[in-house]
Amino acid sequence: MITVRVPAKVNVQLGVGGLRADGFHDLANVFFAVALADEVTATPGEGVTLSCTGPDAASVPLDATNLAARAARLLAAHHGLADPGVHLHIAKAIPVAGGMAGGSADGAAALVACDALWGLDTPLETLLELAAELGSDVPFALLGGVALGRGRGEILEPLPVAGPFHWVFAVADGGLSTPAVFRECDRLREEAGTGSSDREVPTPDADPALLAALADGDPVALAAALANDLQAAALSLRPALADTLRAGTGAGALAALVSGSGPTCAFLTKDAESAAAVAEALIASGTCRTAHATHGPVPGAAVLAG
Ligand code: C5P
Repeated sequence: MITVRVPAKVNVQLGVGGLRADGFHDLANVFFAVALADEVTATPGEGVTLSCTGPDAASVPLDATNLAARAARLLAAHHGLADPGVHLHIAKAIPVAGGMAGGSADGAAALVACDALWGLDTPLETLLELAAELGSDVPFALLGGVALGRGRGEILEPLPVAGPFHWVFAVADGGLSTPAVFRECDRLREEAGTGSSDREVPTPDADPALLAALADGDPVALAAALANDLQAAALSLRPALADTLRAGTGAGALAALVSGSGPTCAFLTKDAESAAAVAEALIASGTCRTAHATHGPVPGAAVLAG
């Protein structure tokens, strides 16, 4: 039996370029791994089967479309295993369809767990390539820490960071579809007359002030530099998120932003006490389903000892 812990992510910068011919957008995506984590346990089984526990378990698909199941099959196919056998249990703490890459995290964890269970010893470089086939956010869940993702987010460069930083995540009722939020971003750009294709929108770049704030471990400077080009689109699809963002900053967060494609909202705070107070105030505000205080950066998908 192998258990792998895998972190959720927040994008401290999500610069979105124009729509490419392949349907993806070029990104300047600064990923930040937080301690809010799923655990995926692999045990020997017949075929690839899944189970899931946690508050959102009912909305997790347990069929072959689940990224954890797809990861197990992809790894088996890569090694020419004709008849892969594994049961994967997902203990889910990361919000589902929340903009924190929870499904991608489970895909990354399944790669690492199956690799260990089947004794394959796949090099990290190969796991990163398989992860990129599964989805744009899966490679980062293997790496963890803080990294700049270029291309559609899968070309990663680890970044220097001094931590910890303290965060609160406000979980919304229901999820948002990532493709729908990207489409809304394109629609808003068309409406504003700027155009939405990759010929019209400049390729985004990482913000030097944000990179310096991360390297310095300076939460006030990081708060000033947080930026998410998908935020307007997420707010357009879910206007009530503006109330959640206001509730967190009103309770003393240094800054608030939508996490990735949302609808989870992220709040950066100055320390752990402030994070606990902001989480409590958010829950009391009634503007979210629940809120979690956490910290980061933390490492990527890793086998738990014992
Ligand atoms: O790579 P992943 O399967 O997670 O992407 C889901 C969807 O999100 C894509 O099909 C695309 O609609 C959108 N996306 C995008 N640009 C990216 C990443 C994702 O448009 N860089």
